[in-house]
Amino acid sequence: MSDIFEREKKLFFPTYKRLPIEIDRGEGVYLFTKTGDRYLDLIGGLAVNVLGYANKKVRTAILNQIDKFNHLSNFFYQDTQADFAEKLLEFAGFERVFLASTGTESIEGAIKLTRKHFKSDKKVNLISFTGGFHGRTYGSLSLTYKDKFRKDHEPFLPFTKFLPYNSIKDLEDNVDEETAAVFLEFIQGEGGVNVADVGFIDKLQELKDKYKFLIVSDCIQCGAGRTGKFLSIHHFNVNVDICVVAKGIGGGLPLSAIMAKEYLSDCWKIGEHGTTFGGNPVACAAGSVVLDELQNGVMDNASVIGDYLKSKLLDIQKKFPEKLKDVRGLGLMLGIEVQNVNPSEVVNKLFDNKILVNLAGDKVVRLLPPLIINKEEADIFLYFFEKVIENA
Ligand SMILES: Cc1ncc(COP(=O)(O)O)c(C=O)c1O
Repeated sequence: MSDIFEREKKLFFPTYKRLPIEIDRGEGVYLFTKTGDRYLDLIGGLAVNVLGYANKKVRTAILNQIDKFNHLSNFFYQDTQADFAEKLLEFAGFERVFLASTGTESIEGAIKLTRKHFKSDKKVNLISFTGGFHGRTYGSLSLTYKDKFRKDHEPFLPFTKFLPYNSIKDLEDNVDEETAAVFLEFIQGEGGVNVADVGFIDKLQELKDKYKFLIVSDCIQCGAGRTGKFLSIHHFNVNVDICVVAKGIGGGLPLSAIMAKEYLSDCWKIGEHGTTFGGNPVACAAGSVVLDELQNGVMDNASVIGDYLKSKLLDIQKKFPEKLKDVRGLGLMLGIEVQNVNPSEVVNKLFDNKILVNLAGDKVVRLLPPLIINKEEADIFLYFFEKVIENA
């Protein structure tokens, strides 16, 4: 056994809880350890590895770009950025984009864009929701709900407020002319795979028409085709002003985007926003492949296999209603809420059977597999999941 466990302890802030295996390589939806074990990966790089591991087209695109240059400063026009941006905006239904690298950074940009748009000391309030997760830098952490992430890191950004997710009454009571923007995940990831109610979103749209605030959609986890549509907002009838994406859109490389409607396009002037690595050409080259592949069947697969998995999980829930409280989500962003069983034990037992899943919101077993997962691979998970629940 290698000494990585000891080295890690000496080197890093202990911010990550690591799995007790060492990965050698990945292929498709599988990870292979240095000792030759094979794990079915339904964590999927936490929604990053949408095309699975070792995708040949992503590899070719990356190598071709590296042979030219792997970085240019944003002093230069870059075809690779423009190619990616054109595809992204068309697919997403927005008109302007700023490219960055990480999710939290794109939320920060969206906060800045909101502030710059209103330039007002009256329209200042930023609303977000219980269970919401938007990142860990100060702006995004100010909009992130859970105490676990925030505790002892105060003070946060002023003029922020949390409302209960999916509560129409709280929206009505708290949103007004001082509201600048409402930030939300249309499907909450870390909060436990909670899908927004249609009635809640309809009310949000109605209030937006009245008070003229911005709706900022965090599609960092529920974008990139995961829900069977490119963005989770595409499942709703809503007029979103700003949408941020990250994670899956870069083919495993750091790439994020703040997308906005045309009327916001004059908001930022030269120098008012920027980042060294934003729109890195290698990430954009990989990202273009992701967008092409999503359109060439991968997104449909997310929808078909997602529906299949969900219906089979609902069957399992019928067999064990005392242990499975709920099965929810869309496409390949699914959550199984357990009750009367130890959630961590379910995850650990699956791990013993060489299946990787993790927990969201304490009691929810979350599935975020690569979107290329096929029916046979889904069946392997279902078989072991049922066995684990039966014996839990
Ligand atoms: C919905 C959502 N928003 C924001 C983030 C933050 O993204 P990053 O970790 O790339 O900063 C995450 C990460 O898990 C997320 O799931």
